[in-house]
Amino acid sequence: MRLSSYIHLLFLPGVPGAAAWNHISSAELEERLQRGERTLVAYIHPLETKSQPRLTLITSKPSQALEPVWASLEPSPSLSDSDAATAIVSIDCSLDLAHCLHADVASYPAIRLILPPSPATNPPNGNAKAIFQQHRYRGPRTAPSILAFLHRMTRRPSSSSSSSSNSLLAHVTAENMTSFLSAADGVVFLGRFGSDKPKPAGPAGLLKRDFELAARRYRDRYTFGVMTGPAAAAIPAVECRNNEEGVHLSLSAANMSHPGAVESFVERCAEEVIPELTRRNELGFYETGKSIVHFFPPTPEARAAYVAEMRPLAQRYAEYLHFVTTDPREFPGAAEMLGLRGPDGLSVQNPNTGDVYPYRRREKISAPSVEAFLGDIIQGTVQAWRPVEGHDEL
Ligand SMILES: *[C@@H]1O[C@H](CO)[C@@H](O)[C@H](O)[C@H]1NC(C)=O
Ligand SMILES: *[C@@H]1O[C@H](CO)[C@@H](O)[C@H](O)[C@H]1NC(C)=O
Repeated sequence: MRLSSYIHLLFLPGVPGAAAWNHISSAELEERLQRGERTLVAYIHPLETKSQPRLTLITSKPSQALEPVWASLEPSPSLSDSDAATAIVSIDCSLDLAHCLHADVASYPAIRLILPPSPATNPPNGNAKAIFQQHRYRGPRTAPSILAFLHRMTRRPSSSSSSSSNSLLAHVTAENMTSFLSAADGVVFLGRFGSDKPKPAGPAGLLKRDFELAARRYRDRYTFGVMTGPAAAAIPAVECRNNEEGVHLSLSAANMSHPGAVESFVERCAEEVIPELTRRNELGFYETGKSIVHFFPPTPEARAAYVAEMRPLAQRYAEYLHFVTTDPREFPGAAEMLGLRGPDGLSVQNPNTGDVYPYRRREKISAPSVEAFLGDIIQGTVQAWRPVEGHDEL
């Protein structure tokens, strides 16, 4: 009964005339790749129903939720020059399951950026089959996040990039260091290893090596650069700016006391106080047993405003609560399941008891009003919401 009230959502027709997928066949994809086109592919399945834990249980068509996002990437006025040459296509796995299995697609939709082989790694005269680089997209399925990923992955290596350095790393000088740190990306890392010794010894060498490994591993999510020129000759260190969270950290060779030091530095700096709930991170939140404060933002701007307003509150309650934002398109039906009357709003969910507490007060959502609401829930003065079963109303 609980689920059946959402069943109708499964059969909502698509919005007529809405912009749609750009489906191609696997043969056409292969042709494009052979021509050397950079291609961003969404592997989708129109009927996919995936029973994952919690919120995803009632979501019917995650592929369908991606469709308007994908269509909005297509005309791409917002794509900068370096991204313009990326073809944005989709493959309907219901028509070409073998190809999708071969491409190792485990769930739908899957987003992959496929880059043609670079001339350096695959000499064109070799008869070996060209090796394409595939990069999985792991972030939220929103246009700004997908475009930021595309931008990071297709950025041209700096013209000054020499054979000694890694082309994954932007080259930064004293002149553009400030703008690089504050504007290159949401989360930016800058290494400083001295220009004289390409391979420093001891802890400084480890710092440099692990920084380059981190750049390789996390380049899809954050931007990495290295200081060149005279200013590079300082004490070896890595600096990080999280421009979204206002966090600024640094790590020096003296901090290289354990093997995972750089990796945990990257994670610490990139941590979001109020992350977006995605299918990838969903389970992690539910497994801690902490209650979850969901906010369903009506627009990306509303999300940014909410995060800015609630950040101190979320930090104060981090030990007990997860504050997340939940995209109603990514989790259609979830707002109703959490007792909200519209597609947006705030609701607190206790995964241990299954209780949910939709925010239905008069005061508009703000840090003080939400803190008061949370206080009332903790003191037991707010009743958990129960879905109204159809037969109760008869
Ligand atoms: C910084 O300036 C140098 C020299 O002009 C240039 O080669 C480099 O690409 C610039 N880096 C960034 C991140 O803009
Ligand atoms: C690195 O070490 C310095 C000095 O001990 C310390 O102040 C700083 O917080 C450390 N940084 C990290 C990221 O652990």
